[in-house]
Amino acid sequence: MSLTETTYEFNKQLPAPPRVPGLPLLGNALDFLNRPIEFFLESYHKFGPIFRITAANQKFVVMAGLEANRFMAQDKDEIFTSESLFGEFAAQMGSRNFLVAQDGAPHRHMRKVMQRGYSKSGIAPKLDDFVRLTTDFTHAWQPGTLIYARDQFQRLVTEQLGTGLTNHSSKEHFEAIRIYLGTLLNVLVIKRQPRLMLSLPKYKNAKKKVMEFAKLVLEEHRHNVIEHEPDLVDDLLAAKDWNGDSLTEDDLLAATIGPFFAGMDTVANTMGFMVYAILKHPEVYEAIQKEVDEGFADGVPPYQDLPKMQNLYAATIETLRRYPVAPFTPRGVAKDFDFAGHHVKAGEEVIFANGLTHFLPEFFPDPWKFDVNRYIAPRKEHKQGQGIFAPYTLGPHTCLGAGVAEVQLMVTVGAMLRAVRLELTHPNYEIKTKLMPIPGPDPKFKIRVVEHRKI
Ligand code: HEM
Repeated sequence: MSLTETTYEFNKQLPAPPRVPGLPLLGNALDFLNRPIEFFLESYHKFGPIFRITAANQKFVVMAGLEANRFMAQDKDEIFTSESLFGEFAAQMGSRNFLVAQDGAPHRHMRKVMQRGYSKSGIAPKLDDFVRLTTDFTHAWQPGTLIYARDQFQRLVTEQLGTGLTNHSSKEHFEAIRIYLGTLLNVLVIKRQPRLMLSLPKYKNAKKKVMEFAKLVLEEHRHNVIEHEPDLVDDLLAAKDWNGDSLTEDDLLAATIGPFFAGMDTVANTMGFMVYAILKHPEVYEAIQKEVDEGFADGVPPYQDLPKMQNLYAATIETLRRYPVAPFTPRGVAKDFDFAGHHVKAGEEVIFANGLTHFLPEFFPDPWKFDVNRYIAPRKEHKQGQGIFAPYTLGPHTCLGAGVAEVQLMVTVGAMLRAVRLELTHPNYEIKTKLMPIPGPDPKFKIRVVEHRKI
């Protein structure tokens, strides 16, 4: 990264960001862990778009609001670093070219390598598989029983992405992948579990199984065992790193397992919230049911046509806004900078509250209300300007699979509501959000399967 070449100017005389008062020893830990969005909103209104918090022994500078989002969007990998967040994760996988942990030109290079494999046009030929897998899953749910949404959606989403992006099922390896990813994120990224977890047999066995699985997927691609259109793994095998060298075996293994990690928490959690919100709003449920019964009658429409199912599309976007699963983006500070009259030093840790704009009434009136009509003309509240709707964060690391995620959510929830009739355990049920490790529906959230529909 060319930090020495940057001409960005700053003024060390400016004051440090104001500190949000907290409890002795714990600081702001309880508010941060239990009600992060509400806490950041209150602090934003009281202290402005930049403030400092402490959570036990960790210190963060928080940046929030539209200007903060735009500041993050224009960073060219000069001020902020992802290495400090994901570096240890990459090291555990033995990879020096691990996308989320890279900065600067090497990062931009690897993004280009993976762009096609992670694009929605790349998964377009796989949408029938997405529907088939959804139907297989839902038909295994017995009428009258309750399903655990998080568990089922994690399995389904991971199977779809493996099939779609690597032409490989992960069913047999699902538990190992879930344990491996969950432990790495909890211990090394959000640091809420002790390092000891990395020496336990449960983690070590899972790691071994996941790596063996990645090796199998890689070898099958090397030897063209399964006939398929070129996919992400083929692109990785053909790629060079930023220095022009072939990727190492560890780089290849780490990148091959990426699609099996990518939706496990993000898409599955969003799907949980989306199905909850639809069941909670019977008029939205009925409208989507009608749309998908007609729209999917002759097979899945091309992905470009999915947004024409207005209610299905709006429910997807509104879920991403109202229930953002990535509302915050932690970053290291690689270089001093000024923001909103305050100075931040290199070496500090910043949390961008990229999802906070979703809850500002000047952009989304009555922001806590789930309202699909926001996205229908003339309102179109998600298209008001850059940085207002930011469920995938902003800047150089903005989600590479955002297009895939939206297509996957629409196709899967659409196919699910065609295949089965679902309901909440009680019409007054209110979902709780838990950090696991990112915000998601309470793992105890259950949905009742009323019937298999005759379609
Ligand atoms: C609702 C679903 C999703 C959400 C909210 C989401 C959110 C995010 C966010 C916030 C980041 C940036 C992380 C950081 O820099 O710290 C990210 C990165 C990434 N996401 Fe997603 N994601 C979703 C689904 C997906 C899917 C389905 C895929 C793959 C098909 C995917 C692939 C990626 C990749 C490869 C990166 C790394 C980009 C980079 O470091 O340059 N994501 N995602």
